[in-house]
Amino acid sequence: MEKDLNIIFNRRSIRKFQNREVSDELINSLLRAAMSAPSACNQQPWHFVIIRDRTILNQLSDIHGGFNNLKNAPLAILVCGEPKAATLECYWEQDCSAATQNILLAATALGLGAVWQGINPEGGNDSDTLRRLLKLPEHITPFSLIAAGHPAETSEPADRFNTDKIHYSNVW
Ligand SMILES: Cc1cc2nc3c(=O)[nH]c(=O)nc-3n(C[C@H](O)[C@H](O)[C@H](O)COP(=O)(O)O)c2cc1C
Repeated sequence: MEKDLNIIFNRRSIRKFQNREVSDELINSLLRAAMSAPSACNQQPWHFVIIRDRTILNQLSDIHGGFNNLKNAPLAILVCGEPKAATLECYWEQDCSAATQNILLAATALGLGAVWQGINPEGGNDSDTLRRLLKLPEHITPFSLIAAGHPAETSEPADRFNTDKIHYSNVW
């Protein structure tokens, strides 16, 4: 039965990519997976910006060291939240997390590589630069940036099952 979970167990962050475009068809599959994520009250308060322009990818990679992977990635997907689009405004980050993880799992299933690159939720310079470069409207908040492409490296599955993190006896 665990073999059905192989996509989850095999997913690793991939940071090196082939110099090859990702097809529209594959991108749409990633986005269909993203939008299959659960969201509070099924409000789907997310948007996705598809970035394939080399100049913009390079500018994004300069925002900070964590975004370096974009230098050789043919594709980035910015997952954004629209907090006001949700009835329960407090859940949009959880909704966007679920969508982000679905993209990573779909990338693994499709033979692509991808890495989640965090954006400081407190805002600040990174988020301001992203807003400016990607022309985000005021009511939209950048949440996560995923670098993706055909992989140029492999990474072995990591078993992180750790009973120290589990509290089996009903209470902590
Ligand atoms: C919220 C978040 C932010 C992350 N930010 C970055 C980042 O800025 N740059 C990067 O290379 N990896 C980033 N990662 C990827 C982690 O480094 C990676 O998931 C972790 O080391 C575990 O490795 P694995 O994904 O291969 O299992 C981020 C992951 C998460 C969930």
